[in-house]
Amino acid sequence: MHIVQTVTEVRRIRRSLSGTWGLVPTMGYLHEGHLSLVRRARGENDFVAASIFVNPTQFGPNEDLAAYPRDLPRDLRLLAEAGVDLVWAPPTEEVYPPGFQTYVMVEEVTKPLEGAARPGHFRGVATIVAKLFNVFQPDRAYFGQKDAQQVVVIKQMARDLDFPLEIVVCPTVREPDGLAMSSRNAYLTPEQRAAAPVLYRALSAARAAWLAGEHDGERLRQIMAGVLAAESLARVEYVSAADPTTLAELGDASHGVLLSMAVRIGRARLIDNLLLP
Ligand code: PAF
Repeated sequence: MHIVQTVTEVRRIRRSLSGTWGLVPTMGYLHEGHLSLVRRARGENDFVAASIFVNPTQFGPNEDLAAYPRDLPRDLRLLAEAGVDLVWAPPTEEVYPPGFQTYVMVEEVTKPLEGAARPGHFRGVATIVAKLFNVFQPDRAYFGQKDAQQVVVIKQMARDLDFPLEIVVCPTVREPDGLAMSSRNAYLTPEQRAAAPVLYRALSAARAAWLAGEHDGERLRQIMAGVLAAESLARVEYVSAADPTTLAELGDASHGVLLSMAVRIGRARLIDNLLLP
């Protein structure tokens, strides 16, 4: 496995190995969710690349950039075991050299949900992902459904900017009690960890209602809010029953719905979603 820091080295290795390339972008502190993306990429491409970069431009001023969990040696071991061919783990100055001033702004689909709660977040995500696509020039790039709005934003960007690649979306990987795997779960104390599956319970309750014929968006939001309200450690930022493509809140959810939420438990801000049908 090649482990490199510079764009020049990525490009050299990328050019020297001809065949199809799959890219798994990450911010490190890998868990089973990331590894499921790597395995999918491994099965669908001749070569697999991963990036490990805690991207400062997607964190707001009061967010957890400094505290974001990091363990590069462990990440590299896991990626090597999973059969990754190339890892880019750049220092910040390699990605954002002095004088950097170009950003990618995706408009409408970045406005609600995470975009409203985290101003500037998707500007940072779209910018780093566009750079990763340029640097690696992958045939396929792999993202988790866990970050549902991120997937919508990246697909929109790739379409609008004519990136010649396939965006592959992989299912959310969950702990046995339903908690979606996330690097930020590391912030939870044992008591908070025990409370955290409430997100999946809330989503599951709304899914059960939808499957039983409840297609009123407002009612689905109320069902999720009701389950979350019963957990005293949960501080709800938003619950949503939105159109899966436009992310606009739905009145009539009969044609399909993205159920999603952001909830703070202790110092962890957790997001989760279910896409129906
Ligand atoms: O999903 C993430 O881990 C990040 O947002 C990504 C796509 C690696 C960009 O920094």
